Amino acid sequence: MAFFDPVKFTEDAVISLKKELTDRTIIAASGGVDSTIAAVLASRAVGDNLLAIYVDTGYMRLNESEFVSSMLEELDVKHKVIDASKRFYEGLQGVIDPEEKRKIIGELFIRVFEEEAKEYGCKFLVQGTIAPDWIESGGGMRDTIKSHHNVGGLPEDMEMEICEPIRELYKDEVRSLAEYLKISVSQRQPFPGPGLAVRIMGEATPERTEVVRQACYIVEEELELATKAGQMEIPWQYFAVLLPVKTVGVQGDVRAYGNTIAVRAVQSYDAMTAQALDIPYPVLKKISERITRELKSDVNRVVYDITDKPPGTIEWE
Ligand code: XMP
Repeated sequence: MAFFDPVKFTEDAVISLKKELTDRTIIAASGGVDSTIAAVLASRAVGDNLLAIYVDTGYMRLNESEFVSSMLEELDVKHKVIDASKRFYEGLQGVIDPEEKRKIIGELFIRVFEEEAKEYGCKFLVQGTIAPDWIESGGGMRDTIKSHHNVGGLPEDMEMEICEPIRELYKDEVRSLAEYLKISVSQRQPFPGPGLAVRIMGEATPERTEVVRQACYIVEEELELATKAGQMEIPWQYFAVLLPVKTVGVQGDVRAYGNTIAVRAVQSYDAMTAQALDIPYPVLKKISERITRELKSDVNRVVYDITDKPPGTIEWE
């Protein structure tokens, strides 16, 4: 494979985007590395003619909207944060089927984004599609294990011209480009489009979402600390899942009946297969102690998922 030069790639991309994006342009920024790169390239080409829209679905990580907003600010990308959490929570009321959750979230996302695009009155839509996205989706040979909601799945009748500046790049090239562009999320773990909703087994109510959001935060913080302390390697992906199972416990000397959190941490190369990670036991214990202490009124049991992919998938839904 030819040597990838991020400096040359950026120069060429900005020149061609300047020619292509001759009018108002919009992008759905998820905070992930791909859409952030596409936003930075487009913004360097057309400046304030680009508007990045970040939709807070309510199923995002702790403090994510503030994080993404300040990152885009630092990268000099004009952006708008839309808090659509109420609409998403309402849309998922009473829904427990994983595929139905994914479908509802995907459709709602498109609706919210379309409304913004209409208001902004734009002619071009930039997307952070990369090579594996279209290579994998072209196959048609595999079963639909999960329908992936990406900001890429927008309807064709949107009457905007689509522009995909990094569609020929592979993940390692994307990472090196992100480093060159000083995008802080270049090494961040992947996060699914439907967000925390697929980490809540059963109904993804606002209250249950808050529990898993806090638990995910604790898992992230503890594994990152353990990595910094040299106790382990940073996993490919690591998070918490809220189970639809209540169990009996004791708090002080009083009977408790609370929720169960599962911790998931996997190593992977491309997410097609994955190995459950052998987390040092003291690290696991600390996660369990923190979750049951900090979420005392909701969670009284923590378990560790040791399943590889296959037969499991990385996310539980
Ligand atoms: P699974 O759970 O299928 O996940 O083993 C493989 C990788 O994909 C992520 N994932 C998603 N990414 N939209 C995405 O962009 C989605 O709907 C979605 N669902 C899962 C998952 O976190 C893992 O990294």
